[in-house]
Amino acid sequence: MYSTLKMLLLLGMMGSGHLITVTVPQKFENVTKGESALLQCTFVTTEQKTSDLIIQWNFLSKTSMVPQQVYYSQSGEGVISKPYEGRLKPSSSPASTNNASITISNMKVSDAGAYTCEVRNFPDVSGKTEATIIVNILEMPSVPFCAVHGDVESGHLVTLTCHSEQGSPTPSYTWTRLDQDKTNKPVLGYTDPNIGSLYIRNISQFEFGEYQCSASNDVGSATCTVELNHELGDGAIAGAVIGALLGALLIILIVLYMTHSMKKQKYKDIKETEMHSSPPPGPNLRVRPRWRMKASLPWGVATRPL
Ligand SMILES: *[C@@H]1O[C@H](CO)[C@@H](O)[C@H](O)[C@H]1NC(C)=O
Ligand SMILES: *[C@@H]1O[C@H](CO)[C@@H](O)[C@H](O)[C@H]1NC(C)=O
Ligand SMILES: *[C@@H]1O[C@H](CO)[C@@H](O)[C@H](O)[C@H]1NC(C)=O
Repeated sequence: MYSTLKMLLLLGMMGSGHLITVTVPQKFENVTKGESALLQCTFVTTEQKTSDLIIQWNFLSKTSMVPQQVYYSQSGEGVISKPYEGRLKPSSSPASTNNASITISNMKVSDAGAYTCEVRNFPDVSGKTEATIIVNILEMPSVPFCAVHGDVESGHLVTLTCHSEQGSPTPSYTWTRLDQDKTNKPVLGYTDPNIGSLYIRNISQFEFGEYQCSASNDVGSATCTVELNHELGDGAIAGAVIGALLGALLIILIVLYMTHSMKKQKYKDIKETEMHSSPPPGPNLRVRPRWRMKASLPWGVATRPL
């Protein structure tokens, strides 16, 4: 630090103008989700007076192209941007300590990205005015989902799958078989640790039982278990599918029956309307009321012509 200062003073004396140097001790930081991040930033300025000091922190998210302002302070008056209200703490008296660090608590997954610390101390506006810290958010794997695929009974390829929705860095998966006394035993089969699938090609009787998948990364692990037995697998799934299909078929049949009866009723109504609105031509007017009587008494009560 001293040598930098000396060099800067030297440069200043040489008449190359005012200079400021901003440094971050840690360019990369791993922060666990929910915890605090201390974003350290210090500066060296050739200008003695620091009352007009400007500190600005910007954030560029992994998914955004536009930097967002996190914190801005001028002459000791600080402004905390909305997303950081209540969880950002600037260092006390940066002007006297040359410390422009900030602390952000309750870090979220969306807080991962690049944080830039920018310091200006007029007339010190040239030199290395900014430095960047890349923040990586670590998250424990969420409880994974375990499932069985394939036909267990016929002894064909059986796949056990395991997946955690959350977790950073991406969790890796391991399968073990739980013994009677719940001790973990290695599994017979091939496991892809990145995908979480366990492939069992030739399943023999002794491989049935409880299987456990563990999803783990640098910050933690979570497990799920699945029971591998004769009833499970695609046989059970097929049963469920057939059940659902039968149910759907029943509904279709009911709907068809209902529409059919409705059509029948409609046809009857139309027939009636036609009969009422178009009396048969000719002088025989007595026909009309007879039709009406018949129509309104469809159960066939004997009606006498009027
Ligand atoms: C941050 O974590 C990654 C893996 O998650 C690791 O490779 C790296 O060394 C860590 N960096 C620091 C500064 O701890
Ligand atoms: C700067 O301030 C932070 C607290 O805000 C402190 O943790 C850090 O040690 C300080 N850095 C230096 C170099 O004094
Ligand atoms: C499966 O394993 C059994 C006994 O473990 C063996 O007899 C049989 O040949 C194997 N089948 C195949 C296709 O490898």
